[in-house]
Amino acid sequence: MNKTVLFIGAGRHQRRAIARAKELGLRVVAVDRNPDALGFVEADIAKVVDFSDIEAVLKAVRRLKIDGVLTVSADRAVPVVAAVAEALGLPGIGVETAHLMTHKIAMRRRLAEMGVPQPRFAAVRTLWETRRAADEVGFPAVLKPADSGGQRGVFRVESLDDVYGHLHETLAASPTGEAILEEFVEGIEMNGIVIARDGEAIPLTLSDRLRPPGIGFGVGWIHVYPATVYGDRLDESERVAVHTVHALGLRTGIAFPQLIAGPDGRVVVVECAARIPGGQMADLVRHAVGVDLVEVQLRMALGEELPDELVHPHFRQPLAIRFLTARPGPLPTGRVQRVGSLEKVLAFPGVVQADTYLQEGEIIRPVRLDGDRRGYVIAIGDTNLEALERAEAAARLLDVEVEPA
Ligand SMILES: Nc1ncnc2c1ncn2[C@@H]1O[C@H](COP(=O)(O)OP(=O)(O)O)[C@@H](O)[C@H]1O
Ligand SMILES: [Mg+2]
Repeated sequence: MNKTVLFIGAGRHQRRAIARAKELGLRVVAVDRNPDALGFVEADIAKVVDFSDIEAVLKAVRRLKIDGVLTVSADRAVPVVAAVAEALGLPGIGVETAHLMTHKIAMRRRLAEMGVPQPRFAAVRTLWETRRAADEVGFPAVLKPADSGGQRGVFRVESLDDVYGHLHETLAASPTGEAILEEFVEGIEMNGIVIARDGEAIPLTLSDRLRPPGIGFGVGWIHVYPATVYGDRLDESERVAVHTVHALGLRTGIAFPQLIAGPDGRVVVVECAARIPGGQMADLVRHAVGVDLVEVQLRMALGEELPDELVHPHFRQPLAIRFLTARPGPLPTGRVQRVGSLEKVLAFPGVVQADTYLQEGEIIRPVRLDGDRRGYVIAIGDTNLEALERAEAAARLLDVEVEPA
């Protein structure tokens, strides 16, 4: 292709995408504020810049002829990508859509205007607003930062006292100092992947996102494809996912709607991101339906055609992803002394991919944040249930020795 793409962010998640871009014959420029960012190893040109400073990014790439700009997995980078694209006259999702798809209050307001089903919600910026918000929303509720991610500052709250107790931490996780209080919706959570192409929304996958009990209630620790909803509820889930993408104004881009199917029959939107998700969702899509989201995103960034064979499912392969987390996940808690090899895990029937980021000396704690997932196992099967059993069994074959921390 002989073109140059700019990656905003060059962390662990970007590294494979950068390698893929190079495989496709692109020249890669990457910016990250961390000089040791893992993605820099693969990039042709590395610029150490804090990407939250858009002017600094533009200055750093001024002399390089950039043909497209993108990010992978980093929600914070989405508005930056949109702004850089606008400044350089490159294809992008637009700063307004980028805002609607990264700021939970703006997103909820737009979804409400467009009649997309969602939990009751209220914005909370100060202690004074808390009581009114709680009256509107009721309990149990979820308190979260308006613009953060990875479960940082997200709490399930049962009372006004709980809100008072957590509000400080939640507001601190928001760069703009805003929080949102939402009705807690019981039910099965699902992740959707939808490709928007010239205003058409193509649903690719819908998978269950299972969560642990307790404080880590928001962490996806298992993904199961296909989702377990069926019949009318499956149709309704796909309809809500597609409606969300249209409502937020995404015309060409990769959307990551997160839904909950409640026991009362309704399907509501948790949030919808405008990027390739982290947490191995791109691997899920590749193994489940044979679509390469990184290639799709690269072509979108460059404004190239997106032929059907690139964006439509090629097959439907049931699979499950088991993240390596502390009990009741497969890992023990404590300080890591030794991590065994993945060989046995990878040799287990049905396992197609596995990795661990565990390091000696680190402390494994009970799951609370996305970052407490310290690796994963992906298994396929004839059914989603068989895939899940295999992923669970294989994950238990990794030997991890710990001492009390
Ligand atoms: N209103 C809600 N009802 C029930 N669970 C919720 C609600 N909002 C969030 N959660 C849980 O918390 C997780 C994180 O919330 P989310 O809005 O996706 O924030 P983040 O940006 O950190 O991913 C969700 O994936 C879901 O499991
Ligand atoms: Mg989320």
